Amino acid sequence: MKSLIIANWKSNPDSPERALLLARKVEHGIRGIKDVEVVVAPPYPFLFPVARMLTRAKLGAQDAGWEDIGPFTGEVSWRQLKRLKAHYVIIGHSERKLRLGETGEMINKKLDALLKHGMAPILCVGGSGRQGEDTPGKIGEELRAALRGISRRTLKNLVVAYEPIWAVSSNPDSRPDTPENAFRASLYIRRVFAGIFGRNAAERIRVIYGGSVNKKNAASFIEGTQMQGVLVGAASLNPKEFVGIVQAASGTTAN
Ligand code: PGA
Repeated sequence: MKSLIIANWKSNPDSPERALLLARKVEHGIRGIKDVEVVVAPPYPFLFPVARMLTRAKLGAQDAGWEDIGPFTGEVSWRQLKRLKAHYVIIGHSERKLRLGETGEMINKKLDALLKHGMAPILCVGGSGRQGEDTPGKIGEELRAALRGISRRTLKNLVVAYEPIWAVSSNPDSRPDTPENAFRASLYIRRVFAGIFGRNAAERIRVIYGGSVNKKNAASFIEGTQMQGVLVGAASLNPKEFVGIVQAASGTTAN
């Protein structure tokens, strides 16, 4: 299976010109790397211009409204994203949960809409960061809330991103998790899936790691961790660093 490397640009950069330049540099840098699936997720205003520029990398979005189209001020619907060919959509990112009050119920509706319509949600889980929290317990809770009522038949495209909240670079004193811990988390995530959907479904889900990934540590989160890729925030804004991550993932065996 190809490793999956996702660039989450968050609310960056500040102009369409800079977004296009960044996309062009990424495209140029990853030309010729065939064994890695690369996704670029720009902010909404730059989706369309960036979509026209990408040839090798795929387009992703950072969120999606669960409604189809209609009177939902400020929302961008899954259907609009699908029309732009943004197959991958990040949902439930910790920055949205913590800063914008996104709830498990909202994440569940987004997940359901995206899966039902053949898109590929990247569901982020990683605890709340509260002192003394039982992180695996909290991840189990997040997963169960997100997966409520989801049909096993629609699961095929789902990607789960294990992003421990303290590892995400937007948090003070952030530091990457260890590959050993990420490995344990991937097993735990699959166990929760197995409990709900059965062993076969659990084995087919792609699980990736996110949180302070850079070109030096990227391969360690893929090789031997039962994880199939990485979700990259800050480092994806530096084209050299991001291309270095893709190069590091090339040749690793994501299984
Ligand atoms: P980071 O962000 O790589 O800057 O830690 C990851 C993410 O938030 O998806």
